[in-house]
Amino acid sequence: MKNTMLRSLRSSQSSSSSAAVLRRGYASEACPERKVTVLGAAGGIGQPLSMLMKLNPLVSRLALYDIANTPGVAADVSHINTRPQVTGYAGEEQLGEALEGSDVVIIPAGVPRKPGMTRDDLFNINAGIVKSLCLAISKYCPNAVINMISNPVNSTVPIASEVFRKAGTYNAKKLFGVTTLDVVRAKTFYATKANLPIADVNVPVVGGHAGITILPLFSQATPTANLSQEHIEALTKRTQDGGTEVVEAKAGKGSATLSMAYAGAIFADACLKGLNGMPDVMECSFVQSTVTELPFFASKVRLGKEGVAEIFDLGPLADYEKEGLEKLRPELLSSIENGIKFARQ
Ligand code: 2OP
Repeated sequence: MKNTMLRSLRSSQSSSSSAAVLRRGYASEACPERKVTVLGAAGGIGQPLSMLMKLNPLVSRLALYDIANTPGVAADVSHINTRPQVTGYAGEEQLGEALEGSDVVIIPAGVPRKPGMTRDDLFNINAGIVKSLCLAISKYCPNAVINMISNPVNSTVPIASEVFRKAGTYNAKKLFGVTTLDVVRAKTFYATKANLPIADVNVPVVGGHAGITILPLFSQATPTANLSQEHIEALTKRTQDGGTEVVEAKAGKGSATLSMAYAGAIFADACLKGLNGMPDVMECSFVQSTVTELPFFASKVRLGKEGVAEIFDLGPLADYEKEGLEKLRPELLSSIENGIKFARQ
């Protein structure tokens, strides 16, 4: 089962690298020691994400932190016979130990949406959680690569940047908002509609991670497919509302956890590959950016030994995508500003 899961994790990478390059990242190059910490490891996303990170041979130590229930999750995950040594940490007094020496910190902590809520409705609770976790990160592992999953990502990434800036530890190259689930959804919906082999499909998704700020660029999707404008618009809307589709289907029991964990694991894997010096590791991510006038923006990024190695511009856009870009600017800017304002208080 382990090999099957890993094979499937590898074969559906959103990186544009060839399969041979991806295999080399795991098999023939020496795997350095890498500590990954999951903050919020006992939650709905945290548990499956912790399991997926336990399946990743690039991880040597896996620290699972949450305010409670982590000993059980850690004991459970630790029995899987793979490389990472698992330790569980519960309660604020153990947060420092969980973080110390981390190369990558993944943050799915916080509360999920209920039907009728937008990601922005989570701001009041999750902003405070993210702020205190980032304060601890700046103290215990200021050089770690941060993968922010906690919503609203459009605000929590700016919050993290401000907390780190204040602490004098901000490194824009190492702070990432995880938007991989938008790419995963766009690929799935596009491949299904165009009847293409799903593993061959790539779709860049830019902007942010909420509603209309999620802008899939189907004009750049590969392989190309002759979809009508009506179909492209429907695919765009479904990608933008993908999270809400899950929230409604779960009817009060939370938001996407399994697909989010999958996407988080793919992105963390890409960060580890970048840190290890693998060439051509690409993902879309919400980062500090000059691609537009907005201070943070998701676009295709090359990951390297220091985090962000290169941020790619948007490339040629279809008129429909240009309109989408115009529409998302005010909402994304306001979410970014809310985050910065909160962190400065
Ligand atoms: C989603 O897109 C949880 O934000 C996450 O479903």
